[in-house]
Amino acid sequence: MAHHHGKSDWADPEHVQRMAKSYQTRYDDKFWNAFTSVSNSETKLVIADFGCGPGLLLTDLANKFNARTAIALDESGPMLALAEKNLRNKTKIESIQIQQVNFDTDEIRVAADSIDLAFSGFMLHEVASPHDFVTSVYKLVKSNGVYVVYDFVSGNEEQFVKAMVDFDMSEDEARKRYPHMCKHSAENIVEILEASGFSNCRVLRVDDIRAVAVGLKR
Ligand SMILES: C[S@@+](CC[C@H](N)C(=O)[O-])C[C@H]1O[C@@H](n2cnc3c(N)ncnc32)[C@H](O)[C@@H]1O
Repeated sequence: MAHHHGKSDWADPEHVQRMAKSYQTRYDDKFWNAFTSVSNSETKLVIADFGCGPGLLLTDLANKFNARTAIALDESGPMLALAEKNLRNKTKIESIQIQQVNFDTDEIRVAADSIDLAFSGFMLHEVASPHDFVTSVYKLVKSNGVYVVYDFVSGNEEQFVKAMVDFDMSEDEARKRYPHMCKHSAENIVEILEASGFSNCRVLRVDDIRAVAVGLKR
């Protein structure tokens, strides 16, 4: 991979490993505090992670909310292979659905009105049309179900560069990737959720460069 201006090669085994290794750092206490304050603790029978990567968050959510069905969706075969392994080894869920899908071009094969908790982590900035994508997610969420989006946000390039350098990225590369990875502001994410049909939308800043947003399907 010579250039990283836009999309990464998510099938690259090294990239898959890097995503898995950085999981604890990316989903730290600050994330969980924000997540906990936008979600309730009720059981969520069906949980879907759109752009699940290595599936570690989906595994944690499935255990935390006593899910019966976990749906892992991603375009990358190697990411999904690891997600399936994690879900099988680290949860007791019997209904594990693994779906290879490119949200920009493919139909998502999940029943309408079926998901209690939908999630996307570090993914929204990747899709070509966030509005079209979130509108598709909205259709699949159950009434009273929620969609939680966790992503980098724009507005603080210096902090972003510093954080990426801590993740072993060069400063140059971090600056090049800033416009892509921090594509939306926290407010933009709420606007996208609202425009796609979600109600009671709100956003919590995790720190200067990360936010968690939530929308409810009425
Ligand atoms: C930065 S990784 C985050 C993975 C995981 N959510 C996490 O936080 O550990 C982004 C993931 O989104 C997936 N992805 C990016 N664009 C996609 C698209 N258009 N359709 C489906 N999956 C996509 C990639 O394959 C990758 O696994």
